[in-house]
Amino acid sequence: MAIRNIRQEGDEILNKVSKPVVEIDDKIKILIQDMLETMHKQNGVGLAAVQVGVLKRVVVIHVNYEEEPIVLINPVIIKQKGKQVVEEGCLSFPNKFAKVERPEEIVVEAEDINGKKMKVIGKGLLAQALSHEIDHLEGEVFIKKILPGTLEIIT
Ligand code: NI
Repeated sequence: MAIRNIRQEGDEILNKVSKPVVEIDDKIKILIQDMLETMHKQNGVGLAAVQVGVLKRVVVIHVNYEEEPIVLINPVIIKQKGKQVVEEGCLSFPNKFAKVERPEEIVVEAEDINGKKMKVIGKGLLAQALSHEIDHLEGEVFIKKILPGTLEIIT
């Protein structure tokens, strides 16, 4: 396992659309292990593969450290409900925080690390993290959807 470099604001790759994973081979499995390690090193709650420079539809999420992290391959949002206004940051924008609107509840279908279909139902912080990370796969970064006047820059 290895810590990978996190792509930062201004890096064009963050605006690109990630491609589906066709085969969960060793390269993808190593990518996932590295993403988990990189996220944990930064005390993050989520990371998308594009943030370590790989345009593949892979996401890791860890909102509750008493539970195992969630690994999602080719995630698709199949349902979302309600709205929540939340404070948000991103490991690719380490000094920026702002309020954004996210769904209050979200249902995602994906494959797990063995290629098995799975479903995640998220509320609150998990719904926020799922929405944020799946946005990354579309090249959407949170800074583009912040509520006016809520940006804080920590220097
Ligand atoms: Ni992010």
